Amino acid sequence: MVENDNLRYTKIALKNGSGAIPALGFGTLIPDLMATRTATKAALEAGFRQPDASERYRNEKEVGEAMQEVFKARKIKREDLFIATKLWNNNHRPERVKPAFEASLKKLQLDYVDLYLIHTPFAFQPGDEQDPRDANDNVIYDKGATLLDTWRTLEGLVDEGKGKAIGLSDVTLDQAKEIFEAGRIKPAVVHVESHPYLPQWDLLDYCRKNGIVLQAFAALGHSSEPKLLEDPVITAIAKRANKTPAQVLLAWGIQRGMAVLITSKTPRRIKENFEVSRLPEDAMREISEGIQSRVRFNAVVESGVPGFIPRGMGG
Ligand SMILES: NC(=O)c1ccc[n+]([C@@H]2O[C@H](COP(=O)([O-])OP(=O)(O)OC[C@H]3O[C@@H](n4cnc5c(N)ncnc54)[C@H](OP(=O)(O)O)[C@@H]3O)[C@@H](O)[C@H]2O)c1
Repeated sequence: MVENDNLRYTKIALKNGSGAIPALGFGTLIPDLMATRTATKAALEAGFRQPDASERYRNEKEVGEAMQEVFKARKIKREDLFIATKLWNNNHRPERVKPAFEASLKKLQLDYVDLYLIHTPFAFQPGDEQDPRDANDNVIYDKGATLLDTWRTLEGLVDEGKGKAIGLSDVTLDQAKEIFEAGRIKPAVVHVESHPYLPQWDLLDYCRKNGIVLQAFAALGHSSEPKLLEDPVITAIAKRANKTPAQVLLAWGIQRGMAVLITSKTPRRIKENFEVSRLPEDAMREISEGIQSRVRFNAVVESGVPGFIPRGMGG
């Protein structure tokens, strides 16, 4: 039994945008389309209120259908949700941003999103190919659009009220600073890989000082090796606190002031992942100070190529 507290309902007010982002969000990076739809619906029914989508996942239509199902059943209203999606790398040129954004809205069956993120700071060759490669299988980048050019176009979406807040993903601290300093509208959210093996203390500190929400993906280490869910510090705390290792990792993320994303296709785990409750302060310290391993699971920050999306999925 988990103790009953309000940690799972934590919302973080956006200083650089309107509304408040639920600290516990549901990621929709699920390659199978039918599984996307059933898992998203199950997540909304379990209590998740922040679906995180992306044009790159090529399943926004199924995420939209899952949301419509729960809206139609009058279980949840649109305004109860904080919905995010992301602009992919082949659409960084300013003239491509709005059409890409509108296409996402259409697939999601929405009039606006609560958060629109630039999925990575890497601009790829503009065009319909999401993973453009040359004859040697090297990614074709685009020097014709800087991150700031793309950002300024996203600012226009906020002016139009179609993106309530905008943010960055897979950026370094320097890239976050550059946009924060130059942007007319500041990033509301910076979305990066973070967990006890990649705590990102400097970035978290910068975000806190500047009213930016740091949102973590791969909060469970994405089931990759070395298995964060099997780390002895995490499993010992889970046993002591009568929680599962996943619940310990999610609580740690929220209590240190981040928003966290979690993905699962498994109904039992979806429920488990929403049953998050507070960790005692000594457990927080043990994780923050006692875990010294450092692992980045996703190399997307180095190249813009998504580490967790199988090649061939979509493009
Ligand atoms: N911006 C980016 O570049 C970027 C990159 C990666 C991810 N993301 C976003 O972040 C979201 C979350 O990241 P993620 O999916 O990579 O990582 P994750 O949530 O750390 O890991 C998902 C994996 O953990 C398993 N899992 C879920 N709950 C579990 C539990 N309670 N116990 C044991 N295993 C469990 C899932 O398996 P089952 O599904 O089989 O249950 C799945 O294999 C994505 O969906 C996406 O929205 C963004």
